[in-house]
Amino acid sequence: MKLPGVKRTTLPGSTDTMNDEFDLLIDSYLENNVGISAGFLSEDLTKGLLQNIIQLQQDDLMTSAGIGNEVLKDPLQTMRGDKIYWMDKNHLNVFEEAFLLRIEGFIEHLNSTCYTGINAYEFHYAVYEEGSYYKRHKDQFKNNSTRKFSLINYLNENWLEEDGGQLLVYQKDGFQKILPQAQTAVFFKSDEMEHEVSKANRRRMSITGWLKRI
Ligand code: OGA
Ligand code: MN
Repeated sequence: MKLPGVKRTTLPGSTDTMNDEFDLLIDSYLENNVGISAGFLSEDLTKGLLQNIIQLQQDDLMTSAGIGNEVLKDPLQTMRGDKIYWMDKNHLNVFEEAFLLRIEGFIEHLNSTCYTGINAYEFHYAVYEEGSYYKRHKDQFKNNSTRKFSLINYLNENWLEEDGGQLLVYQKDGFQKILPQAQTAVFFKSDEMEHEVSKANRRRMSITGWLKRI
């Protein structure tokens, strides 16, 4: 299927195999509105990021996430129950830095093959404790359209169907169900795709972010 407004070119002489997962993600996105790549992050990087998130929890640095970009909060956490912590290169954490470099590589690849003009990004760690969920929503704020693409990276080893916590992405003819499996990345347009996280039956950890044009 062809998506309006998204053109794609192949870079002549491009042989970089590190970019194979980038192409997988982009190709599946172009085909199905939802890109999936099962090996976007290496095993080592995934393990390092998992360690980070466990440490952040122990240090009590993860905080309840709000909705929207203003004071509009959800004190009873009826919309979403995850806790988050924003990434920042200034943290000087090797895994965080490696992750953000990987993201920058992807953005470069996306811009040069699809003319997307992404010039900023933001990512946060997220943890859903057992029983938490995130109801059906879109990722673009009503009064701010800078978020162009959502990119989610999962850190959970051996996630099973009965663990719940699936990402449900709503397509025209139903919904697609994605297990939050370690090393897997999911990619879709922030203003188009409605999605939700079903109730997790075990602790679910991820890194979620947005590619922006500002
Ligand atoms: C979000 C979100 C989905 C997921 O943080 O906005 O929808 O699978 N996350 O974690
Ligand atoms: Mn979302």
